[in-house]
Amino acid sequence: MTTIQFKGVTKTFNNGFQAIQSTDLTIHPGDFTVILGSSGAGKSTLLRMVNGLETPSQGEVFIDKRKLTPQNQRHIRANVGMIFQQFNLVNRLNVMTNVLIGRSYYRRWWESLFYLFTKQDYELAHWALERVGLTDKAWQRASDLSGGQQQRVAIARALVQKPQIIIADEPVASLDPATSIEILELLLKICQEDGVTVLASLHQVNLAMQFADRIIGLKQGTVIFDDQPVNLIHDSLLETIYQKEDHETIAVA
Ligand SMILES: Nc1ncnc2c1ncn2[C@@H]1O[C@H](COP(=O)(O)OP(=O)(O)OP(=O)(O)O)[C@@H](O)[C@H]1O
Ligand SMILES: [Mg+2]
Repeated sequence: MTTIQFKGVTKTFNNGFQAIQSTDLTIHPGDFTVILGSSGAGKSTLLRMVNGLETPSQGEVFIDKRKLTPQNQRHIRANVGMIFQQFNLVNRLNVMTNVLIGRSYYRRWWESLFYLFTKQDYELAHWALERVGLTDKAWQRASDLSGGQQQRVAIARALVQKPQIIIADEPVASLDPATSIEILELLLKICQEDGVTVLASLHQVNLAMQFADRIIGLKQGTVIFDDQPVNLIHDSLLETIYQKEDHETIAVA
């Protein structure tokens, strides 16, 4: 099982905006950790630094004590499955091919380009589709599936990477409440059964309380709380993460 460490990590964008203030965090192996925070808090920025989609301006990210560098990024990325709010499937391709794309990390670029995959890749893809309950949809066009089903395809695509880590950036923000619960249950099951370290960002406090082993509250790029859900039930900090700053006004249409 895999540990993620942020050591003195800051992120300042080219325009000078500091999205992540100096942050030290250790994400424990096999945990389901949820980052909670309002829009603009820095959730995506923090998550994207785990697989090199963003690089820290200062400090370092370690995956199992291995520092993330441009040189080992490709190798580390293979071990990190990514789940996004908008699913990020290739709509015109069928479900099976979308899942196989998760194997691209282990293929040469031209093999991926022509969708050349091995028998073992197909076996893994079938296994992953069974895992997410979509065996019967394998040959349908991705865009013909419902949102919840598309997110399951994205999870299957991550599973064929045989990842040690799954990063899920607002995985349920585009889904209805019942489907959101199904998707989080699936991610939790994968976390518990496969020992995958899951780091997810969410907007909803109730879902974080229900699913997380640990909740990290982020506000304006700073960790403002970090605890198990049971310890946060009566914590007023939980409410403060969504409070507007005094000088901010809420426009009423
Ligand atoms: N490439 C960029 N250049 C400049 N500023 C950026 C860039 N990417 C993000 N930001 C800013 O950094 C802050 C944090 O953004 P981030 O996307 O991490 O927030 P978030 O918590 O994921 O928000 P949301 O819930 O809306 O997805 C925001 O104020 C955003 O405008
Ligand atoms: Mg985001």
